[in-house]
Amino acid sequence: MNKDLVRDFNEQINQEFYSAYLYLKISVYYRERGLAGFGSWFLAQAREEEEHAVKLLSYLAESGQRVELQEIAAPDVEFDGLEAPLLAALEHEKAVTARINNLYDFAFTYKDFQTADFLTWFVREQREEMETAAGLLQKMKLFGADAMGLYQLDKELAERK
Ligand SMILES: [Fe+2]
Ligand SMILES: [Fe+2]
Repeated sequence: MNKDLVRDFNEQINQEFYSAYLYLKISVYYRERGLAGFGSWFLAQAREEEEHAVKLLSYLAESGQRVELQEIAAPDVEFDGLEAPLLAALEHEKAVTARINNLYDFAFTYKDFQTADFLTWFVREQREEMETAAGLLQKMKLFGADAMGLYQLDKELAERK
């Protein structure tokens, strides 16, 4: 694998862990406000991000490349209301999509078609992630202002395994 590509892969591993960290922060935010369903949904989301990191890490390792684990930054966001974390999540997923697209593009630049093929999974995953984040924000805007609506939404989110 190209050295720069390996460097960017390692960077993306770190970013996936950062995503997990951000979602943990959101999970805690909702838990503290009595919204256990939102809390558990974002905990599951954090776990999924860790899986993304491991998927990238395994690919590097299996390709005989050096995995370098870097320091994970603390999420530097404060939320001012129940809608804010959902907006932050959507913005974050958009940024991750841009990163994944760059990585994908980079793989083609180096004619590393195996890596490009591997990254296809992430390209598709990001589409889902953005849709989910946008959907959640939309639901919150529609039903979140009403106590009963918020209660129902929290119950719905609690069902995610
Ligand atoms: Fe991810
Ligand atoms: Fe994600």
